[in-house]
This record gives sequence, C-alpha cells and structure tokens, in this order.
Amino acid sequence: MSSQSPAATALVDRVQNFVSENKQAILIGTAAAVIAVGGVAYYASTSSSRPKTDLEKGEKGERKDRKSRKKKKGVNDVDGPILEERKAKVEDDEGDLSKYTAEVVAALPEEERSRIAGLFKAQGNDAYKSRDFATAAKLYSRAIETTPKAEPVFYSNRAACYMNMAPPKYELVVQDCDEAIKLDPNYVKALNRRAMAFEALEQYSEALRDFTATTVLEKFTNQATPLAVERVLKTMSTKNAQDILKSRGPKLPPATFISAYFAAFRPRDLPALPEAPSEGDQTLIESFKALEEHDYQRSFELINKALETGFSWDVGRSEALNLRGTYKFLIGDVEGAKDDLNESIQLVPSFTQSLVKIASVYMEQGQTDKAFECFEEAIKHNPEDPDIYYHRGQVLFIMNKFDDAAKNYTKSTELDDNFVFSHIQLAVAQYKAGNLANAMAQFRRTMKTFPQRSEPLNYYGELLLDQQRYQDAIEKFDKAVEIEKSKNPQNVLPLVNKGLTLFQMDQNIGAAERCCNEALRIDPECEAAVATLAQLSLQQGLVDTAIKYFEKSAELARTEQELAGALTYQYATKAQIEFAKNYPMLASQMNAMAQAM
Ligand SMILES: *[C@@H]1O[C@H](CO)[C@@H](O)[C@H](O)[C@H]1NC(C)=O
Ligand SMILES: *[C@@H]1O[C@H](CO)[C@@H](O)[C@H](O)[C@H]1NC(C)=O
Repeated sequence: MSSQSPAATALVDRVQNFVSENKQAILIGTAAAVIAVGGVAYYASTSSSRPKTDLEKGEKGERKDRKSRKKKKGVNDVDGPILEERKAKVEDDEGDLSKYTAEVVAALPEEERSRIAGLFKAQGNDAYKSRDFATAAKLYSRAIETTPKAEPVFYSNRAACYMNMAPPKYELVVQDCDEAIKLDPNYVKALNRRAMAFEALEQYSEALRDFTATTVLEKFTNQATPLAVERVLKTMSTKNAQDILKSRGPKLPPATFISAYFAAFRPRDLPALPEAPSEGDQTLIESFKALEEHDYQRSFELINKALETGFSWDVGRSEALNLRGTYKFLIGDVEGAKDDLNESIQLVPSFTQSLVKIASVYMEQGQTDKAFECFEEAIKHNPEDPDIYYHRGQVLFIMNKFDDAAKNYTKSTELDDNFVFSHIQLAVAQYKAGNLANAMAQFRRTMKTFPQRSEPLNYYGELLLDQQRYQDAIEKFDKAVEIEKSKNPQNVLPLVNKGLTLFQMDQNIGAAERCCNEALRIDPECEAAVATLAQLSLQQGLVDTAIKYFEKSAELARTEQELAGALTYQYATKAQIEFAKNYPMLASQMNAMAQAM
C-alpha cells in the first residue's frame, strides 16, 4: 500500500527479501529434514521469478488455451493409453470378441481370461486411437470384467476415455483413477489424470495433493506438473482469500498497522470546538481522544455515532468524514472511504489531507494516474501542505522513480522539517538510486536530529544489513530496541530485524527465533515476526509449526494479496506433509535428491 510510513513498506520488502534470499536454504533445508519435498515449495515460491510460459497466464487465458488445444488435437488427455501402451500390439488379434460374453468368460480358466482381457484392452486402445472414446471405454470395461486379477492400467485407460468425452466425465475419471492408484500407488499417469479431473471439478486441495505427488514421483523431470502445482495453488489461494475476506466482514487491521498509517501524516491539533458545542461535536472530540490513546475500535465507533448525531460546524463535519473515511479505508471499504473523504474535501477545500488519503485509496486499487490527479488537485488547494509531497514521494518510490521521489521528500521536509519519515525516506530513496554516500550521510544527519526516535536507527540498520555489515546493523537495532522500550505501543520491528540479522550472519536460528518470539510477546499481531518464524520453522523442518504460523499470518493479513500469499505457503506445506504421509517409502530417496540439489 502506498501512503504508509516506511515502516510498513520496508517491512514487507525485508520479509520478501528474506524469503527470496533464503529460498534455496529454506527449501533444501526443508526437504532434507522433513522427509521430502522442498521442491514443491520451491516451485510455488519462485513463480514470479521464472520465465512465463503458456501455462502461467492468467486464469482466463489458460482456459482458452486448453480449449483451443482440445480443438486442435481432439484429445483432451494427451497422455492417453496410446502413449502408455506403445508396445502392446497383440499378435493374435482375434477381431470379433463378441463371443466372449460374461457367461462364456466365467467358465474359462484364469490364464485364458487374462489373455482375453488383454485382447479387450488392445481393441480399446485402437478405439481410443481413432478417438471413439465411448467404444474404448466399453472395451476397457470388458477387460476389467474379464481379467481374473485387477489391472491398474485398465482403469487408468478408461479414465483417459472419460477425460476425453464431450463433455468430460470427471467424476468417473476420479473413480477409475482411485481404483488404479489403490492397485498401484506410484502410478504417475493415474495420479496426474485424477489431479486434472479434480482441478476441473474445482476440488483444489485434492488436485494439489495429486499434482504434488506426481511432481515428486516424476522427480521434477516433467516441466508441466510443477506448473500445474503452481497454477492450482494460485487459483486456490486467490479464491479462498476472496471467500475469507468476504466472510470476515469489516474488521480493523492490527493496531501497529493502523498506527503506522496515521503516523504517515503529520500530527495536527484537535479542531477547536465552537462556543456551544452540540452532542455530535463533543463525540467527535472523544473519538479523537480514543485515537490518541490508540484505542482504534472505540474511536471508530465514536466517529460513527458523531456522524449520526450531527455537527454544529462544517470543519467538525469535514474532520469527522475524514476520520471515518480513514477507518473505512483500513477495513477495506474503499468505495465508502472515497465517498467520505470526498465529502470532507467538498466541505472544506483547504483540508487537503482528505485528498491525499483518496490518493491512498486509488493506490491500493492500483490506479496510479488517479492518485497523481489527487495530488495535483491537493496542491491547487493548499500548496503548502507538506503531507502532499511526502505521499507523492511514497507513490513515486513504489514506482521505482527514486529521483523524483527524493525531490518530493525534500520539498516535504522544506515545508516542515519535524517529520522524521520524510528524512528517512529521502535517505532510502538515495540508497535505492545508488547514491550510497549521500544516503549514509542523510541517515547520520537524521539520527542526530531525531535522537529520541527509533526509526532512523532501524532503517539505517536495514541498510547496513543489506550491505552485510552485520555487527554494525545489530548495534543500530539494539539501540532502536532500547528506545522503543519506553514507548507505548512499542514498535517491535527492530527486534525482528535483529533476529533476521542474527540468522543471516551465522545461521543462528535459535537466536533469531528468540528475537521474533520476544517481538510477538510484546505485539502479538506483528506480521513480520510471524512470517519470519514460519520461514525459520520450515528451515528446521518443523512443518507443523510452520503451518501454524502460516495460519496466523493469514489471520493477520489485510489485503487479498497478503492473504493469498500466506495461504499459498500454508497449502503448499500441507500438500507436502500429506505426500510424506502417503509415500513414506519415498522419504529417504527424496532426501538424497534434495541434498544433491
Ligand atoms: C467528488 O464529488 C464530486 C461531486 O460531489 C465529483 O464531481 C467528483 O468526481 C468526486 N471526486 C472523487 C475523487 O470521487
Ligand atoms: C515531485 O514529483 C513530480 C512527479 O510526480 C515531479 O514532477 C516533481 O518535480 C517532483 N518534485 C517536487 C518538488 O514536487
């Protein structure tokens, strides 16, 4: 999200960097220790960095692809029996098998029944080849009835027929593959076929389970299957994230998140009450007091009440609409937020903060052009509002336009130099633009100017960590932690950063975990701590613990994207655990593979 303090953006960066930098270590670690499988998580987590292939297109494009492929080849399941049965030309093809009725067959010795079942299958394969799937399915059914010993290939081939019928009979595909896999748990083609049927039936966890098994059984040699894992994970996470957000209803995000958002605007005095304040006027002031005490839920309730009661002056109503719009934005009601904020600016056009906040809403919706329009509009009304330039800087920063961002931070600081974040972000923008010396100097100045603030130390520490100056980074984080101890609420980010540093410095997992746990003890809703603990657990092969943290991470997630990210890890890990449970025999083999990776 755009217009928050550097706290939130940099934090997300950090965790993402951590994940990507340590991907290899984490996955190999997981694979080796847990039994199997790091690979799947590897594919899940590298999706964005890998070259895009056809299969990685958006959902819609993909469906189209699949359809057009069907049209071209007329065969939905390209891995049909033909490919499985290349050598299976039967010598004494007897042509007409109609004499082998169920009664006739029942009377024959077992050996003869096996032979005749083979003949039915061979004819089934011929029918399949000429795309007569209904006939092929019937012939495989005869093979199944005839054979004295159940053969997995008969079921798998019949499943291929169901898969290719128009419309496909996915339920029957699943049933036949169930049989085939019961007979041969390592039957990759049946597993893959069942996975595709489950995917089509939108039974995503089953599809994921089967694609995961297929990927591992194929030892990652078939490119398509890991892509299928990725595709199902993405569909499943996105869909479930949307459902969860819908059912969750309006809920304020963690307090640290809210305070970071409010802290991204310069503090202002409470509006002065009119001579004879109305009840609504007074409720507004109470709401602001609750906000100051970080009691956001109460502040939200009070502001709703105040707006129902009414105000005796426009400035009050404009302030109230701004505040309620902010809460609406924080609970994800973007349209309601825009309406309130817009009404606020219409009432008092010089109250440009409302316009800057509308820009935040547009940014969250990915509409950067609209956000810039809001900044322009705001500058027209009040060119001296330093928040406009700071937030425009933030948007430019997110867009990697570091030079313009730096100019805007500088302008913001010129208008009011008491705001620590415009100093910090200038340094970070300089660093990102490659001006290391300027950035370091800017940080040193900021630390000197704001000796009572932990943020300059924390972000300077991150910069040192980025340069692998571990001891220096730890020293800054320690100082920041010391400063935060006297604050309420306490910002625990420096603690988490210290943990990350200890881990990156010499893989000291224990110490890293102690830092994160301490952070969580102080702030149970600290997302960075939860995400880091999840990764550290994976690293040690503690998958059940990792899953608990992923679940917690999903609870704390605010946006659909964050939630989908947490769910992806959660599902991928669960699928791997399930694989390990179903295929314990493969565990050691996979270990060897993972270690060779
Ligand atoms: C705000 O409301 C006015 C009219 O009330 C409308 O013309 C304008 O487009 C709205 N602006 C935004 C940003 O929604
Ligand atoms: C701020 O950013 C804009 C681009 O959006 C740029 O045109 C402008 O020069 C920058 N500097 C100031 C001081 O506004």
